[in-house]
Order: sequence, then C-alpha cells, then structure tokens
Amino acid sequence: MLRANMEYKCSVILTKALILSALVNCVHSAAAAAAGSVRLTPMYGNRPVCTGNNCRAGCPGKSTYFRKSCTNCNTHTSQCCDGVINDYFQNDQFENLFSNRDSFEAHAKGFWDYHSFIAASAHYQPYGFGTTYINSTFFGTKEVAAFLAHVGARTSCGNEVASKEPLEWGLCYNKEINSNSNNYCDEHDKNVYPCAPGVAYYGRGALPIYWNYNYGEVSKDLKVDLLNHPEYIEQNATLSFQVAIWRWMTPIMEHQPSAHDVFTGYWKPTKNDSLAKRVSGFGATINVLYGDLVCGQGDNEFMNSIISHYLYYLDLMGVGREKAGPHEVLSCAEQVAFNPTPSSSP
Ligand SMILES: *[C@@H]1O[C@H](CO)[C@@H](O)[C@H](O)[C@H]1NC(C)=O
Ligand SMILES: *[C@@H]1O[C@H](CO)[C@@H](O)[C@H](O)[C@H]1NC(C)=O
Ligand SMILES: *[C@@H]1O[C@H](CO)[C@@H](O)[C@H](O)[C@H]1NC(C)=O
Repeated sequence: MLRANMEYKCSVILTKALILSALVNCVHSAAAAAAGSVRLTPMYGNRPVCTGNNCRAGCPGKSTYFRKSCTNCNTHTSQCCDGVINDYFQNDQFENLFSNRDSFEAHAKGFWDYHSFIAASAHYQPYGFGTTYINSTFFGTKEVAAFLAHVGARTSCGNEVASKEPLEWGLCYNKEINSNSNNYCDEHDKNVYPCAPGVAYYGRGALPIYWNYNYGEVSKDLKVDLLNHPEYIEQNATLSFQVAIWRWMTPIMEHQPSAHDVFTGYWKPTKNDSLAKRVSGFGATINVLYGDLVCGQGDNEFMNSIISHYLYYLDLMGVGREKAGPHEVLSCAEQVAFNPTPSSSP
C-alpha cells in the first residue's frame, strides 16, 4: 500500500488514535516516519538487529539463524524442509491471486510476474521458506499464501477502484511514491551504512523496506549494492520479492522470532508471550511485521484487510479458508506487540 497521496499527510500525523481511525492506507507511511523519530526501536523502520550475515555468524544463541530452522527431512527431526515451491504453486495460481496487476489502472503494470517470485524464493527455500514440515505436516502452501497475503494487502490499490473486488488488486504498486521528499537517511547509521548522495531510501519491495540501515542489511544478504543503488529494487521484480522474503525470514531484534518462525510454529511462546496473548500463527506474523501500529488495537481495517487477503488466497491456492484456523490465531487484535513503540502517546 505504497500510496502516494496519503503519504505526506500520514507522515505528519502519527498518533495511534488517528491510525485507528480509518487511516488504514497510511499505516505504512506512518510506520516509516515513526522509525525516524525513535532510533532505539527498530520495529517501525524494519531495522532488524539480527539479520543476514550477522545472524549467520552467531545470533540468536550463537547458532546460524536461518539454517537452524531447516534441516534436511531425511533426518527425522520434528522440523525439517524439503521440496520446492514450484511443485505446488504454479503460474496460473499466481495469475489468479494477482489478476489485475497488469490492468491499465495498476501503478506497476508489467512489473511483477510469477517467475520473479519463484526466482526470488529459491534463495530462501533452503532456509525453510515455503518448504517447511513440522512433525510431518507440510506448512509450505499456507506459508506462501500467508506471505503473499501480506504482499497483496501492502501493494493493493483495491480501494482506488471502488467498483471492483478489493482483494483482486494486490501487486498494484512496486514502490512508495515519496511525495513528502523524505530520503530516509538515518544519521545514526551513517558510519555503518553511509547514505549515497542523491538517493532516497523510501519504501521499495513487495514488502517494503525503508532507511539506509535496512538497505544495507539486505545488501549484505543478497550481495547486491542497494545502498548505492536502491533503485535496483524498483527495476527488478526478483530483487523486489527477495527484499520481501528477507523481511519475512528475518527477526526484527535479537532473540525474537521472524514472521516465518511464528507462522510455522517453530517459535514456541514463553509464559510472557502467553500473558501477552501472543500465539503462533498468522496473527503473530502481523505482530512481527507491524507491532502496535496494527496489533493490540482490537479490530481495525488494515488488519482485517491482511486477514481477508490470506483467506482469499488460501481458497485460490486450493487449501481452503477453513484450514486457516480460529480467529484468535488469525488475528492480532488482542496481542501485545513484540516491539511496542515507546513514543506511542495517543
Ligand atoms: C513435534 O511433536 C513433538 C511431540 O508431540 C513436540 O514435542 C514438538 O514440540 C513438536 N515439534 C514442533 C516443532 O512443533
Ligand atoms: C535482478 O535481480 C536478480 C536477483 O538479485 C539478479 O539475479 C538478476 O540478474 C537481476 N536482473 C537484472 C536484469 O538485473
Ligand atoms: C517476563 O516479563 C517480566 C515482567 O515484564 C520480566 O521481568 C521478565 O524478564 C520477562 N521474562 C522473559 C523471559 O522475558
């Protein structure tokens, strides 16, 4: 939902009350703007502490982060991964999910395609993306539906085409229209990830990343120089999906789960998590990705839009929405955020 016209308005207005009040389209812009003002909370600018090569070198728990959730299925562990996504997810399903992305109203007409998604996921399948089994139950199809639901909700222009079915408008955008001229260059990160002159680190990707910090982290993982060339993401759909899957597979902070972990149930809630009503499942992925901008707020339009996309995609992918689980697992309406915003004064 990288939406141009709302961007400016929302980056100025950051209160929870307003976010709650129907400014659904602005949640993302508000999220990005909030990150600039609160450096020590990585959540809202998606600034994972434990990511990519850092993670592989030893966090959390000094193990290789991505790998640890994915061992070969020949070894009879309770969690393993095997197979490839294109065994069960085909081009015609992708076309059904994103049926209007190339229509004349779409803002990224001609950009996205199935092969880009498959090529992008190849990098992450060995870490369990779309390939995970837990105690012999396959989670891959549901995980791809869940991931794409976040993508669809985030890149939709369904609200702009009122006469049409809103769930059919995922992948309408491929970047934030940076109308407030924020270049998202965080001074604090300049030593590690110096901002290149003349470029802006606004939201790009199928699940957008913001800020020089994140562009730098993704660069390390993908070995593409996105710090000097952030525009590559909006020119290359494979890269755009890779950025999104990186976001899905990477914890925001050390000792926290990724969206992938909470979805597959690899993550086990602690007593504190249970007290905070955090349970593994789809709702917790919303919590990981959006925190208290969306979660713990009761029902709200943006959360419901993500959930609706998920149910719709489960149907189209042949899994069926009845397999989605009960509402308290699907929703994060009652969950306390993994990373609460300290400055979230209403
Ligand atoms: C698999 O099942 C065993 C036995 O029921 C359980 O202890 C374990 O936590 C399960 N593994 C996962 C990853 O859920
Ligand atoms: C797009 O990005 C992918 C993944 O980083 C890369 O392999 C491919 O060469 C890029 N395509 C172009 C045309 O640059
Ligand atoms: C659980 O929550 C309590 C109270 O907020 C806190 O003191 C404690 O450190 C937490 N435990 C863990 C394992 O996070």
